[in-house]
Amino acid sequence: MKLPDFPWDALAPYGDKAKKHPDGIIDLSVGTPVDATPAFIQEELVRASNSPGYPLTIGSPDLRAAIRTWAEKILGVSGDYDVLPTIGSKELVAWLPTFLEAKNVNFPDVAYPTYLVGAIIAGAKPQPVGISPESWSKSDLTWINTPSNPTGRVHSRSELQAVINYSRENNAVIASDECYLNFPADGVSEPISLLNVANGDNRNLISVYSLSKRSNLAGYRAGVVVGDPQLIEKIREIRKHAGMLVPAPVQRAMAVALGDEVHVTEQAARYAARRKVLKPALEKAGFTMEFSDAGLYIWCTRNERDWDSVAWLAERGVLATPGSFYGEAGSKYIRVALTSTDAHIAQAAKRISE
Ligand SMILES: Cc1ncc(COP(=O)(O)O)c(C=O)c1O
Repeated sequence: MKLPDFPWDALAPYGDKAKKHPDGIIDLSVGTPVDATPAFIQEELVRASNSPGYPLTIGSPDLRAAIRTWAEKILGVSGDYDVLPTIGSKELVAWLPTFLEAKNVNFPDVAYPTYLVGAIIAGAKPQPVGISPESWSKSDLTWINTPSNPTGRVHSRSELQAVINYSRENNAVIASDECYLNFPADGVSEPISLLNVANGDNRNLISVYSLSKRSNLAGYRAGVVVGDPQLIEKIREIRKHAGMLVPAPVQRAMAVALGDEVHVTEQAARYAARRKVLKPALEKAGFTMEFSDAGLYIWCTRNERDWDSVAWLAERGVLATPGSFYGEAGSKYIRVALTSTDAHIAQAAKRISE
């Protein structure tokens, strides 16, 4: 099995260059959350730390109830569906094609790299595709990602309906990665879940979700998958045998986190404010925004090679990610993450616009 080279190694020399800036590096490359895990979630983890027995693969009854309540309210799922906690969502993305014995895996042509990795692990044929299903090859598993990493593009209701129509016509599974659902940019309509559009008929449809960004829980490894009960049963069965269990204290923390939307709204406001500071600075430096309608990233171009833009920013002590990390179609773009403190984002904006 030949996995792709780990792309971040290629960025290291630009990180070294940015570190030489007299006021230090501002790293806007990897989208790792920096704001604190809300105190009430930390406290629940501590309260649950006496945990001598094995946890349940399917999740404790209180976590299952919390996921269901959250999924109905926030994803808008209805009808017959099931839920399952995961050890963060990256592992599910990487293993889903194997769990489902997929032979052909479609994923966006500009995308989070783990969709490709998952297809390779499963020995399936990876098929990068555009947004519209009209151009898709036949596949037994298709990933969509709304809002998208890296572009921040949001699928409209009619685009989601077209994806569901493709699924019905081809009896094909659709996995919708919705990790960034909670972070609309200001003034842009709320991103919607595939399961909302499914309108109660969840056959062949699942939504993959993560608490990493929603609740600043990336270190806990906490994700969920929701949707077609038959697919969830298949996934659950393998996970049970393979010992893919979410630790019990993390399950408790997830249950309280999913029961609260106040901290999510606060976090969304933080990212929206950072976007407002960074976007005009990048525009002043000649970058044009594309999509960037939601999520944690600004996707922009100066119509030059991505590495040239990365080098220009590194000279100013700011590290961004070249778009080619996400597919050839991204090779004239850069991705700028909003996962840095307000002070660092303000500093970065100053350096970029000067
Ligand atoms: C689109 C997308 N899906 C899934 C993940 C995985 O997140 P986690 O494993 O923290 O849940 C990420 C992380 O950056 C992502 O960008």
